[in-house]
Amino acid sequence: MSAGPAARAAELRALLERWNHRYYVLDDPEVPDAEYDRVFRDLQSLEQAHPELLSDDSPTQRVGALPLDAFSEVEHRVAMLSLGNAFEADEVHDFDRRVRERLEVDSVRYACEPKLDGLAINIRYEHGRLVQAATRGDGSHGEDVTQNIRTIRSVPLHLRGEGVPELIEVRGEIYMPKAGFEAMNARAREKGEKTFVNPRNAAAGSLRQLDSRITASRPLTMFCYGVGAVEGGGLPDSHGEILRQLGEWGLRICPEVKVVQGAEGCLAFYADIGRRRDSLPYEIDGVVYKVDNLIQQRELGFVSRAPRWAVAHKFPAQEELTVVRDIEVNVGRTGALTPVARLEPVFVGGVTVTNATLHNEDEVRRKDVHIGDTVIVRRAGDVIPEVVRVLAERRPADARAFVMPSHCPECGSEVVREEGEAVTRCSGGLFCPAQRREAIRHFASRRALDVEGLGDKLVEQLVGGQHVHTPADLYRLDVNTIAGLERMAQKSAQNLIDALEKSKHTSLERFLYAIGIAQVGESTARALARHFGSLEAVMTADVETLTAVPDVGPVVASHIHTFFQQPHNREVIDSLRKAGVQWPDIAIEQPAEQALIGKTLVLTGTLGAMSRDQAKERLQAMGAKVSGSVSKKTDYVIAGENAGSKLSKAESLGVPVMDEGGLMTLLETGQFPQPTDRS
Ligand code: IVH
Repeated sequence: MSAGPAARAAELRALLERWNHRYYVLDDPEVPDAEYDRVFRDLQSLEQAHPELLSDDSPTQRVGALPLDAFSEVEHRVAMLSLGNAFEADEVHDFDRRVRERLEVDSVRYACEPKLDGLAINIRYEHGRLVQAATRGDGSHGEDVTQNIRTIRSVPLHLRGEGVPELIEVRGEIYMPKAGFEAMNARAREKGEKTFVNPRNAAAGSLRQLDSRITASRPLTMFCYGVGAVEGGGLPDSHGEILRQLGEWGLRICPEVKVVQGAEGCLAFYADIGRRRDSLPYEIDGVVYKVDNLIQQRELGFVSRAPRWAVAHKFPAQEELTVVRDIEVNVGRTGALTPVARLEPVFVGGVTVTNATLHNEDEVRRKDVHIGDTVIVRRAGDVIPEVVRVLAERRPADARAFVMPSHCPECGSEVVREEGEAVTRCSGGLFCPAQRREAIRHFASRRALDVEGLGDKLVEQLVGGQHVHTPADLYRLDVNTIAGLERMAQKSAQNLIDALEKSKHTSLERFLYAIGIAQVGESTARALARHFGSLEAVMTADVETLTAVPDVGPVVASHIHTFFQQPHNREVIDSLRKAGVQWPDIAIEQPAEQALIGKTLVLTGTLGAMSRDQAKERLQAMGAKVSGSVSKKTDYVIAGENAGSKLSKAESLGVPVMDEGGLMTLLETGQFPQPTDRS
């Protein structure tokens, strides 16, 4: 092995480790992601070319270990202890008094930390290199989860800097940040999969995976809060300084950690963190006070399995028991029907909770919630309270199952639940009061009818004051009504009337977008307008005809069809047209599916938006013959990036060439673009 590649690999690893530390530990990226990825790939190819350079502590090896059959057991060199609890200020004063009496001092300095709601881990570094990670287990024996811990980017594979002891065990909490937890559950819910009940369970479930690739896909991170065994090196003599030193060696330390004086200092910390609990990006169930001076810690020692020098001061519980009085259905702004449990009021997470979301029909069934059930409700931070699970053994004989209504409870329109979707929606659209406000905001928005000056505040007043029920009502407003609203006057009212007048002249695609059909965004609206040419044609199309439009699948087609089936929607559209909303009809283009019959095309180079095979399929669906070689009979060559010999051949034969932009136009409209000028 030459010195070149080894030195290069070491250099790339050092770079990646530094960037990783900046990104995951300090939350302060040094380079853009693309640069990180580039260097990562360079290291990967170097390691592939020189397999002898590979080692399991390379940043490329965080993920990819083979799944295990079982976790092996690890004996902790230094027991992992638990903490005594305090719930009231009195108990904190008692704790402080006991500490002072034992130490025979007047006042004690404490290190205060949030008590993270995850699971404890012990990570051993030998000569600065991560060699083992184990869960707490029963405190004396845990499970070896080394390959899972390696996948967590904020856990350094090597400690950095000066003075790292030959052996050091760092201890801390593995947890899942609130945002990652919410996003993961939202994805699971969308796919109809099981959700995790809270970030703690999610973190524990993610870490206890025999296949580390699963752990790698979960948003886990870690804060260090202490050390276990230490050999061949020293540490500072106070807890606060030890944490600062661990931070310098590259470990992630909670930024809230604070050293204070006496019980009063502790209680002030508790109050401050308590006030900010909801806005912290992770869940905590209290705070921990630790005697800061290590000599004092040693003097205090332990009782049974808990140190005398530390205590956990707990916050009010975030999960409580209560009874479901009823299950009602709420209609959201997009028409989504959400089952909501009406509860016996219960004090949880610091507030009285009377409602808890059940998310959707499948979730009610999966959790098997009946009216009359005793349930665990959870209110964590500012997240909407939810039902975690039912205590089946407490179900009364007269408990009733929940049935999703067939009609919207707000407006009586039919509800629809598309196949493969978890959400049931009201089809009432513009007519449904719950959807009105958002519908009107959307209607007036810049990319829809673009009513200048009709902001959220104004929409709220107009809808709340019953001045506007549907977008058509906007065009019936008079200057005096508008001028009577908050923060409005004659002049601003007249401006709004003028803006409304101006918005009447629009295009079919804007109008189709503006009326707010579920899942019809701007590009679908444009495709519909081009395909059908007139509103009447779209309104009378059946599902099958609608599916012929590019990008309209069966689900969207069914949303469109249902929308126009609703008499209320038809009435609103009618009123809008009567009020003068208008647009020029579009000359219908040739039906796309026949547009390319008799044409021979050749694809070459790399496309950005789709693979060549996908492009080929779509062109063939429009009737084209897609050939592999260029000849005089070729009608067009479609050249992506880095096109080679086929492009030169086309040029030499004088065959017209289009780029990817031309291809997109062709797929959307069936029209050939002007040949690309490549001179
Ligand atoms: S110190 C000897 N500090 O709470 C003290 N623990 O009941 C050992 N925890 O299993 C723990 N945040 O998982 C400590 N800042 C913190 C903590 C913390 C959460 C957990 C830890 C431990 C349990 C102790």
